[in-house]
Amino acid sequence: MIKIHNLSKNYGKDVHALRDVNLHIKPGEFVSIVGQSGSGKSTLIRLLIAEEKMDSGQITIGGWEITDIKNHEIPTLRRQLGVIFQDYKLLSKKTVFENVSFAMEACGFKSSDIKKTVNQMLSLVGLKDKRDRYPHQLSGGEQQRVAIARSLVHKPKLLVADEPTGNLDSINTREIIDLLKKINNLGTTVVLVTHDRDVVNSLRGRVITLEKGYVISDQENGKYLL
Ligand SMILES: Nc1ncnc2c1ncn2[C@@H]1O[C@H](COP(=O)(O)OP(=O)(O)O)[C@@H](O)[C@H]1O
Ligand SMILES: [Mg+2]
Repeated sequence: MIKIHNLSKNYGKDVHALRDVNLHIKPGEFVSIVGQSGSGKSTLIRLLIAEEKMDSGQITIGGWEITDIKNHEIPTLRRQLGVIFQDYKLLSKKTVFENVSFAMEACGFKSSDIKKTVNQMLSLVGLKDKRDRYPHQLSGGEQQRVAIARSLVHKPKLLVADEPTGNLDSINTREIIDLLKKINNLGTTVVLVTHDRDVVNSLRGRVITLEKGYVISDQENGKYLL
């Protein structure tokens, strides 16, 4: 699903955000990426979603080498990736339904198809009964679930999450992680960036640890070692 070869990214000449990173993530995996603040986790995510350009190395996603991706190809890539962040980035003047339907409308889908897919995604995240609420009428955990529903409307094979539980308490964190596991069980590859020790240890999955831009450990059934 993801092949990363000798990837490096610098900011200016002194900040080496990623150094010679090599990773291979298979379809269907659930991978946690951990590391202290500033270790390069978000830089890796930004390169995966082509939000920034790498300095050297290669990234292939689902067989598509995005190393030299052209700007006009980026929307096509983004439709093949779901992305969620710590802040939910919802549109405050749109309802739950509209926040999720927006991306499909922008792509020109038929309204009956939009309705069907959005309802399906809202059921998956358990928010069908709150479809007419506005973001400020939801808890943080519910807002993140809307963001997850939105990220899935194009049925991506890969979901990338950068600290999705960073603003949530432990109960909401648990719910979001359980939801990511459910999505993974339905066949989507999940890459989760987190600094939550309890989350990582409870997942009992593959854990990749970054330090100063290097991959310092990559283990199945890994533990949070920092
Ligand atoms: N846009 C930027 N300009 C300059 N330096 C940056 C920028 N983004 C990140 N960095 C630096 O790159 C390093 C890695 O940052 P980041 O990937 O955000 O780490 P993490 O997500 O693990 O906290 C840090 O030293 C950070 O200060
Ligand atoms: Mg970060």
